[in-house]
Amino acid sequence: MKAFWDERYRQRDYVYGEAPNVFFKKNIDGLPPGKLLMPADGEGRNGVYAATLGWEVTSFDLSDEGQKKALALAEKRSVQITYLVGSVSDLDFEASSFDAIGLFYAHFPPETRREYHHRLLGFLKKGGTVMLEAFSKDHVAFQKTNPTAGGPKAPNILFAPEEMADDFKELDIQLLTQEEVELDEGLFHRGKASVIRFVGIKK
Ligand SMILES: C[S@@+](CC[C@H](N)C(=O)[O-])C[C@H]1O[C@@H](n2cnc3c(N)ncnc32)[C@H](O)[C@@H]1O
Repeated sequence: MKAFWDERYRQRDYVYGEAPNVFFKKNIDGLPPGKLLMPADGEGRNGVYAATLGWEVTSFDLSDEGQKKALALAEKRSVQITYLVGSVSDLDFEASSFDAIGLFYAHFPPETRREYHHRLLGFLKKGGTVMLEAFSKDHVAFQKTNPTAGGPKAPNILFAPEEMADDFKELDIQLLTQEEVELDEGLFHRGKASVIRFVGIKK
């Protein structure tokens, strides 16, 4: 897994672009800056954008190559972020210490997904926000016709709205939708996609 992502990020291009995800931007733009945790932040397009708004950002990811590109992007935008290399399972943060968590295309496998989501919620303050966008199980139809539609090929790693409702049932769910959208994110998220969008607040 790490080898796959390091290889992908080793190329010069930002494979999901340098601009933030549209749904992330819409949500983070409306929140007062505080402490933000960005698991699986890849090349840092979202974490770095949040830092430009004044958020104190802690990103992490499995990939050293992702870290290098995220730190380069932060330098380009004249901001600082903390970017740790590691997995949800081996990184620890102070309980209830973040004001928001952003999970973007963080397709954790089904055997760990629920446990990882639960672990991450422990780092969120009461009143804090979780924002998530990921490919839905219906995305398979777009993957069949478009090689740049993106997303994991194994259907059990794609998400279902019911899984998100269950994983995040301790949150006050503000939004949980499955939508067809047009992605224009770098080389690998291009064209029609079926995504799940979620916003929840910790009670
Ligand atoms: C599709 S990329 C998305 C990157 C970024 N969130 C974005 O939207 O641009 C998925 C990322 O998940 C990371 N990842 C997968 N499993 C992980 C884990 N257990 N802990 C941390 N990162 C993980 C990968 O290294 C990869 O960077």
